[in-house]
Amino acid sequence: MRFLRVGAYEVVIVRAQDGEIRAFQNTCRHRGSLICKEREGQVAKLVCPYHRWTYELDGTLIWAGDMGAEFDASKHGLKTVSLRHLDGLIYICLSDTPPDFESFAELAHRYLEVHDLANAKVAYTSTIVEKGNWKLVWENNRECYHCSSNHPSLCRSFSLDPEVAGVAADGSVSASLQAHFDRCEAAGAPAQFRLAGGGQFRLARMPLQANALSYTLDGKPAVARNLGRVAIPDAGPLLMFHYTTTWNHFLPDHSLTFRVMPISTTETEVTTTWLVNKDAVEGVDYDLKCLTEVWVATNNEDREVVETNQWGIFSPAYVPGPYSPDQESGVAQFVDWYVDRIEKALSPVRLVAG
Ligand code: FES
Ligand SMILES: [Fe+2]
Repeated sequence: MRFLRVGAYEVVIVRAQDGEIRAFQNTCRHRGSLICKEREGQVAKLVCPYHRWTYELDGTLIWAGDMGAEFDASKHGLKTVSLRHLDGLIYICLSDTPPDFESFAELAHRYLEVHDLANAKVAYTSTIVEKGNWKLVWENNRECYHCSSNHPSLCRSFSLDPEVAGVAADGSVSASLQAHFDRCEAAGAPAQFRLAGGGQFRLARMPLQANALSYTLDGKPAVARNLGRVAIPDAGPLLMFHYTTTWNHFLPDHSLTFRVMPISTTETEVTTTWLVNKDAVEGVDYDLKCLTEVWVATNNEDREVVETNQWGIFSPAYVPGPYSPDQESGVAQFVDWYVDRIEKALSPVRLVAG
């Protein structure tokens, strides 16, 4: 069976031989050691490296040496983590009472189905730590005002039209963008802009620059064997974000997922995964450098601007300035959503304090 360790929060995701995917807290029920130390791998059982307590792949404790006659192994299974599988993507929630997932799943499934992510393979993964607060990482993601001065590789394909990264206050889009949506939808690729869940998630299939088909330096597809069934090569990326932890780009030829994890008030881990058709062969159907170089460079450039932003904010002289109404509507949307969530979360505390 395979496991994947989600490092920042010590969760281990396990796929057993029965195909079932489960998630557990990666902490032993004895004295709390990590169980999986590697980021990923294959094992027959989950064995704690400290005193060898051994867990079945469903989390059941099946061996604990010299624990005495009174010891009840059934009370010491691994703590499970809520997990949902959605069209090849896995979502976990650390809360004991996970929020509603269905409204997102229903909407996202309609857009994702055509990308056939269940038949993808991981071509490459990168993890970087940005020395910036998680909110700065998101604010940077939610606009492309900074793109022309910071992302020379990405700007060869990604559209600088502020509609692509932004959000109109009334949800409207331009006639040309609506024409793109209509063309994609007619070809079987859901595209219409949707902001839902109180602003927590957005889906829209956005056009790339003219003549660009993928995130490559020459604009040509990075993978000869498509991932999914998007019938028009210039459909552009399906852009999907879901606060608080993920934004994604699903293209006709490959897909990109980004996981965004706050690990301290001034550090954020960003993991990027490049997905290609499981039958695509490196060196034949795709060149790994060509596939990855645009977003490897873009992530590094974003790390640089976020860290520089963080240092500027540390200045006692810092006061927030205004947003560009044309270019930073997405930032405003993120901040509004965040403030609304925090106010709701804090309101009982205020009542008690008052
Ligand atoms: S801490 Fe895991 S077996 Fe002791
Ligand atoms: Fe950027």
